Amino acid sequence: MGTRNDAADAALVAAHPWIAGASRLEIKRRLSVGSARADRLRKLAWDSSKEPRPSLIQGQRPKLDGGARVQQPPAREIYLPDSGNRHRDLPPVSEEQPWRKADPQKVMDSPTILAVPDIHLHKGQDMSRMRWLGRYVRDSLTPYDSVVFMGDTVDGKSMCRHLEEGEREGLRFRDDMEAGRQGLAEFYGELPTNPHERPNIEHVWGNHVWARMKRFVKEHPWLMGFLDDPDRWFGWSDYGVKGHKYQQPLHIRGWRFQHNLPNGGRGTVGGKYAGASMLNRLNYSESIVTAHTHKYNQHEVRTAARGAVWGITAGCYFSHYEDYAQYDGNASWDRGLVRLEYAIDGDADVAWKRIETLEAMYASEDAA
Ligand SMILES: [Fe+2]
Ligand SMILES: [Fe+2]
Repeated sequence: MGTRNDAADAALVAAHPWIAGASRLEIKRRLSVGSARADRLRKLAWDSSKEPRPSLIQGQRPKLDGGARVQQPPAREIYLPDSGNRHRDLPPVSEEQPWRKADPQKVMDSPTILAVPDIHLHKGQDMSRMRWLGRYVRDSLTPYDSVVFMGDTVDGKSMCRHLEEGEREGLRFRDDMEAGRQGLAEFYGELPTNPHERPNIEHVWGNHVWARMKRFVKEHPWLMGFLDDPDRWFGWSDYGVKGHKYQQPLHIRGWRFQHNLPNGGRGTVGGKYAGASMLNRLNYSESIVTAHTHKYNQHEVRTAARGAVWGITAGCYFSHYEDYAQYDGNASWDRGLVRLEYAIDGDADVAWKRIETLEAMYASEDAA
C-alpha cells in the first residue's frame, strides 16, 4: 500500500527542478522512488512549471514556444540518499582458483608429445611425408619429448578381408612389410644416429596390421609364433621400439594413447562427436588420444575435482586418396599431427599441425 504525502512531493519538486525534464526512469533512479510516485512528481513538476511539457519521445526536438526553444533542464545533480544507494563499494575480488591444477614450474618442466595418426604406407608410395616428419621431430623435439605413432602406420592391404578378388590382384604381405620398413628408414634417416639424442619414440598398434595378423594366427593356430611378432616383421625392432598391443592403453604424463577405443561391443567409439563420446565412455576419468577415424576432433571438460580431461581423435598423416572412402570421405579427413605441448596430468597446450605445413617447411630439403 502506497503512502502518499503531497507536501513531501511538493518539497521534492521544489528542491529538484530537473524533475520536469526527466524521464520516469531517471526520477526513479535518482530519487529512489517507485514508478507511481515518479509519475506524480513529474506531473507536479510540469503543472508548477511555466514551461511547456518537454517531449516524451527521446530524441525528438523540443517544441518551440513563441519562437524560443524550451529551456533545457539544469545540469544533473548528484543525489546520494543515505539509504537505498545503488553505488556502494563492490565486494572484494576472491583470490580462490579451485580450477587451477598445474604448478607453473611443473608446466615449464613438462615435455611435448607428438601424436602421429594413421600413415597408411603402401608399397610404391611417395614416402616424402616420412622425411618431413623426421625433420620436424629433429627440429622441434628434444630427447625429453615423445613421439607416439598411433597405429595403422602400414596399410596392410594384402591382409584386408573386404577386397574383391580383382582388387586383391598382385597384393603381397611381403610388400606391406617392405613399405613399413622403408617408411621407418626414411623417418629415422632424418634423426640423430645416437638414440640418446632422439626423443622417446612409442608405437601403438592399429587394426590394419596387428588385428589382421592376430586374426590369421587365431584362424590358423599352427601359424603361432610365426606371424605374431609384428614389431620384427615391420621393422620397429630394428630401432629398439617395442609396440604396444592393439587397444591396450599407453600412458604418458596423464594422457592415454591407443589406436581406437572399444565401445563395449565389437565396435569402436567414433562419430561426429568422437572426442566427447570417448570421454563419456571413460566416465571422464582421463584424457585420451586416438586415431583411426582419420578425423580431428576434440572435446575438453574442466572440473574443480579433476582439472582437465580431453578426448581427441588425431586425424591421419597422409595426403593420398583411399578408394574405399570415395570422394567425400577423402575430402573430409583431417590430415596432420597433434602436438601436446607442456603435457602434464592429462592437460596440455593442444595444437593441430597440418601436413601441408610440414610440406611447406621441409619439402625443399628433398630438392637440396
Ligand atoms: Fe586408418
Ligand atoms: Fe584404424
